Amino acid sequence: MAESENFCMVPYELADIDWDNLGFAITPTDYMYIMKCSEGQSFTKGELQRFGNIELSPAAGVLNYGQGLFEGLKAYRKHDGSILLFRPEEKCIAVDDGCRANVHAFTNNRTVPPPGKGSLYIRPLLMGSGAVLNLTPAPEYTFLIYVSPVGNFFQGIAPIHLVVETEVHRAMPGGTGGVKTIGNYASVLKAQTLAKAKGFTDVLYLDCVNKKYLEEVSSSNVFVVKGNIISTPAVKGTILPGVTRKSIIEIAQSQGFQVEERLVAVEELLNADEVFCTGTAVVISPVGSITYRDERVSYRNGGIGVVSQQLYSALTGLQMGLTEDKMDWIVEL
Ligand code: COI
Repeated sequence: MAESENFCMVPYELADIDWDNLGFAITPTDYMYIMKCSEGQSFTKGELQRFGNIELSPAAGVLNYGQGLFEGLKAYRKHDGSILLFRPEEKCIAVDDGCRANVHAFTNNRTVPPPGKGSLYIRPLLMGSGAVLNLTPAPEYTFLIYVSPVGNFFQGIAPIHLVVETEVHRAMPGGTGGVKTIGNYASVLKAQTLAKAKGFTDVLYLDCVNKKYLEEVSSSNVFVVKGNIISTPAVKGTILPGVTRKSIIEIAQSQGFQVEERLVAVEELLNADEVFCTGTAVVISPVGSITYRDERVSYRNGGIGVVSQQLYSALTGLQMGLTEDKMDWIVEL
């Protein structure tokens, strides 16, 4: 363990982790938080346990029938050593003294990366842990939170390369596309793996009814920039109402952009100035090129778009405590 630098106002220790090479991979941490709820009962009082494997019946609802939901949020280490959470209330996390104590215990402060090295990704997970054979809600649900220090999801602010998927769809009207159910992520893996094998970073999905309107990328929302107008698919059940999406809309409006939440036709990609993706894990990722029906369109010569860069700086400045939080979005732990 290395002691923190002397200039920090909040002293902290760091776990023995290679902070310079964090990717978006699981790094085991000290604790996880678990609570359970049996049929007809309330949740038990949660408790901290050492991070590790959990025991499940082979008939657990989550394993057999995909009964699982998750969320994601990030904690950043500020230069003074304190730890900042970005809009936790938007993820239904009320930061009271108990929560503060738990988060500190989770991390023992040791696994939140030093400033500029990444963040602590916090993953709340709700799953049907009770045994079922028939197709029915599980008789027991487990809520747990684990954490992992992370770096960039893609390549940070380096532009990514997307391919528009014309056959496989991520979500359908009346389905679960608008909530973070685990099945939404399983269903994109095949298309995503095939796209990666062809050298693309990820897949951009279209709506399954008209096969014409943008939906989202496997792990993030999408925005299209044309002049002073920034457009993004409207949230209508098949699009995740991401907190980063919502925050970018508010930041862009505060900077004088006109933001339109509407149906965005795939053809609009052809003459857009810039495209970028947003998400908790992704943050903001500029898109360097998009390939649609074998036609490749590049944005800003494959470089980082000025609007993407401007919004990225504004968002990450707030998240890392580098700029004044006029929106009141940051909660210090
Ligand atoms: C997030 O952005 O937090 C997500 O849940 C996406 C996931 C694929 C990492």
